[in-house]
Formats: sequence, structure tokens, C-alpha cells
Amino acid sequence: MTFHRIVQTHHLYDGYRQVVRIGRYELLLLQNEGDIALVDNRCPHQGFPLDRGPVKGARLICPRHGFAFHLRNGDCLQATSCKLATFVVQYDGAWLGVELPDYM
Ligand code: FES
Repeated sequence: MTFHRIVQTHHLYDGYRQVVRIGRYELLLLQNEGDIALVDNRCPHQGFPLDRGPVKGARLICPRHGFAFHLRNGDCLQATSCKLATFVVQYDGAWLGVELPDYM
């Protein structure tokens, strides 16, 4: 596993969004109501980018067909078999980042 820095924490604010590419991953980091979420930027339904989707409550809405994914666990409101990949954020001093497998 390797830690990848994404952003320094003092840059974060509610409404913050950043798409980050690390190896084969395209991740979406966002802050909503004080909570940080790091999720796959590709919708598990048909792969549409999620970075422009609205957030309602704790759910990210896919702009393509409107599926709603819980930011904490990726559960989908409309289809239980359609789960968004979520990632645990980690900290290294002032940096927020993520640990990903070395074989990515
Ligand atoms: S592509 Fe996201 S809900 Fe269909």
C-alpha cells in the first residue's frame, strides 16, 4: 500500500470538490456538511462521471439517471446491487490522502 497525498486540509470547505487521478483510479473528493468523502468518480450503473452531481443530504446524485449514493458507504437508494466504491481518507500531517494498493 502507498499513501497518496491529495490536498492540504486547510484548503477544504463545505462544497469543496476535486477529481484526482491516481494510477487506474479516478476519485472524487468532496466535503459536505463538514464530512469528507472520497468515492469513485465513475457511477457504478453506467460509468457516468459523478463530479457534477448534486448532493442531497448525505447522498450524491448521479447526473445521468438520478441514482442516489450514500457518501459514507456507497449504498444506492434505487438498486441494492449498484454500490459506489468508497475510500477511507487518511492524514499525513497537514495532508489528506488515501492509501491504495501498489499494483494499481
Ligand atoms: S449512469 Fe449513473 S445512474 Fe445511470
